[in-house]
Amino acid sequence: MTRFAPAWICALLLGTASSAWADGDAATGEKVFRKCKACHEIGDGAQHRVGPVLSGVVGRTAGTADGFAYSDAMTAAGAEGLVWTPETLAAFLEKPKAVVSGTKMSFAGLRREEERADVIAYLSGFP
Ligand code: HEC
Repeated sequence: MTRFAPAWICALLLGTASSAWADGDAATGEKVFRKCKACHEIGDGAQHRVGPVLSGVVGRTAGTADGFAYSDAMTAAGAEGLVWTPETLAAFLEKPKAVVSGTKMSFAGLRREEERADVIAYLSGFP
């Protein structure tokens, strides 16, 4: 299963080179999160839907929300050490399948760096 490791290690290194997420705006991120709401819930009373609950996702090991049936690819990425930091999230949200090849998150990605930074700032507000 080591085929997952290189992609996210690269993502981690790329993420470290650019830390624009730190300037993200949570209020704008709430609007960006509308794109995620088709599949994800966050905050009080959030339930798993097509995708897992995203409360507490920043700092969590990939594929470990209780009670959600992840793809084998996501479970393996977590088992190999993928943790959702602002850097790894930025890479995943740009192109999910490039970071976790085989993920069942059918989302093309957020193309604009600013949108990624804003939505990560929003996610960070739900520890
Ligand atoms: C079409 C449905 C869909 C959309 C839209 C979507 N996701 Fe997902 N997401 C999923 C699914 C399904 C998974 C589980 C992937 C797996 O198991 O491979 C997931 C997983 C994730 C994870 C990993 C969670 C964990 O516990 O490891 C994050 C982070 C995430 N999504 C963030 C987002 C954000 C932020 C957006 C909006 C920009 C978004 N997703 C849009 C379906 C979606």
